[in-house]
Amino acid sequence: MSALAMIAGDGIGPEVTAQALRILESVKEHFKLSLDVEELDYGAERFLRDGVTLPEGEIERFRENFSAIYLGALGDPRIPDMRHGREILLALRFELDLYINFRPVRCLSDEFCPLKDKTYKDIDFTVFRENTEGIYVGIGGNFNKGTADEIAINEDINSRKGVERIIRAAFAYAQDNGHKRVTMSDKSNAMRYAHDLWQRVFWEVAEEYSSIEANHFYVDALAMALVRKPEQFQVIVTNNLFGDIVTDLGAELQGGMGMAVSGNINPDGVSLFEPVHGSAPDIAGQGSANPLAAILTMAMLLEHLGHKEAASVVEQAVSGTLKDGLRTPDLGGETTTVEMGDAVLQRLGV
Ligand code: NAD
Ligand code: IPM
Ligand code: MN
Repeated sequence: MSALAMIAGDGIGPEVTAQALRILESVKEHFKLSLDVEELDYGAERFLRDGVTLPEGEIERFRENFSAIYLGALGDPRIPDMRHGREILLALRFELDLYINFRPVRCLSDEFCPLKDKTYKDIDFTVFRENTEGIYVGIGGNFNKGTADEIAINEDINSRKGVERIIRAAFAYAQDNGHKRVTMSDKSNAMRYAHDLWQRVFWEVAEEYSSIEANHFYVDALAMALVRKPEQFQVIVTNNLFGDIVTDLGAELQGGMGMAVSGNINPDGVSLFEPVHGSAPDIAGQGSANPLAAILTMAMLLEHLGHKEAASVVEQAVSGTLKDGLRTPDLGGETTTVEMGDAVLQRLGV
């Protein structure tokens, strides 16, 4: 019996996760999947109540007792420094060594594509975002804090091992999935040490993949090219911070944050799946959040666990629901979160 740890989190997290969970329960029953769900209350409420972000020993328990983790979203205006977010989400990424942040960007309908003269077919690429290093490690500090002489430092960590393994993952994925091009993005014209390392490792690894074209974009030019000619991209590999930014841009190319999915993957351990979006405090509690990113993230989790047919049934149900014309407000309609969940559930046809 395998088990799934479920952290619904904050804001719209519980609203969209509830829909993903309904879908999961339905495919579990139909495909006779043995996947126990343990719902965990980690997030802002719990932290504000008793100061607990992740209890002692919990990461070890995730590592040993679960086959995957699902997270809705974290973030609460009452905790402006996002301490609980770092101690839950970033801690899981770092301590479970989830070094691949896998973020496919796929547009499901021309209607969602915001670019002039482009169709949904032009938006189809996957970002491999490094997920355990970079500026996210939280090394740094202040000097003379609060004074006019203040200095604030955040170190940007790039290890040979960390850079190499994400670049290798991107090439291996390209090869396994019939992609012909891998694009690396950095800022090596300005960041001469860290991103020179990215350059050297990228071209070195590229040599091993003679059938795949390797190319490079500075991240500023990448932002431009993603808007101007997104069809040229198949697999993009980049560092933690640039990957964060580029995938919000990517989300907008596929219909918005309500459509964007991600997996935080350790190929040799337990992995964590979450929609790319946050807790959306501006619409939380209104029942209007788009649950499709959460539902498609559940499909990604199922596929990761080897339940390919179940994953595909969920993806087709989402496509069918969109073909039926259902649209939450972010997609220009009036369908509620629960109505969208109802429709996907009906469309599952299982
Ligand atoms: P956000 O993704 O929460 O929201 C950005 C915009 O997209 C908002 O206008 C929101 O209403 C909209 N949006 C997001 N998801 C949507 C959905 N499913 N349906 C419809 N509209 C949706 O980003 P933000 O506002 O910058 O951050 C809010 C909080 O979430 C912050 O605390 C931030 O740190 C946190 N955050 C958490 C995660 C995560 O848990 N993985 C990711 C991003 C941001
Ligand atoms: C994401 C989020 C996180 C990140 C935040 C909540 C720390 O924006 O998963 O994209 O920056 O990685
Ligand atoms: Mn982000």
